Amino acid sequence: MTAEAPLSASGQEGRSWASGAVVYQVYPRSFADSDGDGVGDLDGATSRLPYLADVLSVDAIWLSPVYRSPMRDFGYDITSFTEVDPLFGDLAAFDRFVGRAHDLGLRVIMDFVPNHTSDAHPWFVDSATSRVAEHADWYVWADPAPGRADPPQPPNNWRAVTGGSAWRWVSQREQFVLHSFLPFQPDLDLSHPPAREAIHDAMRFWLDRGVDGLRVDMVDFLAKDPLLRDEPDEHYRFADAEHHLDRQRLPEVLRGFRDVVTEYPDRVLVGEVNPDLSIEETVALHGTAEDPLLDMPFNFGLLRTPFTADALAAHLDAYDRAVPAWAWPNLTLGNHDVSRLASRLGQAGARSAAVLLLTARATTFLYNGDELGLTDVDIPPELVQDPWEARTPGRGRDRNRSPLPWDDSPPAAGFSATAPWLPVGAANSTRTVTRQRQDPDSMLSLYSELLRLRRSHPVLLDGAQRADNPQPDLLRLHRQQDHPKPASLVILVNTADADTVVEPSHLLGHRRPLLCSGPAAWQNETRTLRARSAVVLR
Ligand code: NOJ
Repeated sequence: MTAEAPLSASGQEGRSWASGAVVYQVYPRSFADSDGDGVGDLDGATSRLPYLADVLSVDAIWLSPVYRSPMRDFGYDITSFTEVDPLFGDLAAFDRFVGRAHDLGLRVIMDFVPNHTSDAHPWFVDSATSRVAEHADWYVWADPAPGRADPPQPPNNWRAVTGGSAWRWVSQREQFVLHSFLPFQPDLDLSHPPAREAIHDAMRFWLDRGVDGLRVDMVDFLAKDPLLRDEPDEHYRFADAEHHLDRQRLPEVLRGFRDVVTEYPDRVLVGEVNPDLSIEETVALHGTAEDPLLDMPFNFGLLRTPFTADALAAHLDAYDRAVPAWAWPNLTLGNHDVSRLASRLGQAGARSAAVLLLTARATTFLYNGDELGLTDVDIPPELVQDPWEARTPGRGRDRNRSPLPWDDSPPAAGFSATAPWLPVGAANSTRTVTRQRQDPDSMLSLYSELLRLRRSHPVLLDGAQRADNPQPDLLRLHRQQDHPKPASLVILVNTADADTVVEPSHLLGHRRPLLCSGPAAWQNETRTLRARSAVVLR
């Protein structure tokens, strides 16, 4: 339990469009299929934009990669930074998507993957041919370690995120190439000016087409020690890496990205950072007011924090305080890389989590399907798609990437006219958008209501926040503002599996329920908050 602490700063000048926005992640392969090949595409996504604008009414979309790619990591292995993969459509389809989104008042954040390319990218194919090729120095190449030569030994002890050495031997060049991720994703060398310039030009390509921001993949990997020194601890966590991730040089790379983005009015830079970074290390990637870097280094704290009142209060409070006053906090509870929210917390927990996520002071990232309460789908071995699963059984991400169920149309709940690339799953097939729109108690109705509440109560956007844990298992958020009109809301979340009676003084004088996470979640007369439930009080 925490003592009453002062509220964080509220309301700021000069913020970007993304400050306090609700951003919905579209994983395009699984969102909507227009051409009946079983894989979602841009025209499919465009046809569903009114759902995002009118039913949910989010502010923005983060579009996961649609670049040309062999799809060995489903688009995070790019072979052309300026083309759309035919599986998703073409540039005209992309322009239609952005145009329609803008017409509906939705902003678009484009995923951008500058740490690595596919090994089938023409830059890499050329780079691998010889040490004097045009692109010879565009990737991180190194000679084998001296000594034992058969087989050649990697130049240092750096390891890949997916396990094993981060070095792959390329016999054509008789050198190793670095792959911080999967072996077919060689790392670009962004300290090499032509490579860096090509990446900047790729950013401009999409900014010129009107995207409102870029979400940069694996930002903390973008700078490496030029001397390729060994990590002192060979079992290092990436958050503690001293050389594989070069923290001194990273700001320079991010500054380069920032400079490109500021060539355009009103665009934002979001960065995927290592979830193990501390709060201080994460917020340091905002830069400073004079030298801003990322508008939003993703805060994955809620994904790591146990869903208990004390842990949540401690995280929210510490994070909110750590974000510099000129910047804006962000929160997320799901994405295409982690088990689904409703599988981690159960349906009731996921409902309270939605209340928390959408009433806290933050830009909020939602993962497609979480608003429907979708759960992980068991994928039989013969249908496994994700290369992670083959490398480390159980670590695959297919389960949380199943297609969205739109309605009851066979064979894939309105997602596609054919068998989809991953099964929709029996339980998720009943959680369709159409059914949930008709049910006032559905997860979708809760999200729509929360988004409406967020819009109609500016205190949820601008208000200062205090997060605490005034009694066991009770998380309390206090949102409050004095200007332009005094307003104050209290959000209570019971994280226990049993009902709890809230002490009268803990309500801070707030007695009128505005929204509950579920039917009968809050009994006003007895001040009883049901197990795993949440309420917003005025
Ligand atoms: C992070 C992305 O979110 C993940 O899906 C991808 O596999 C890796 N980066 C590699 O690009």
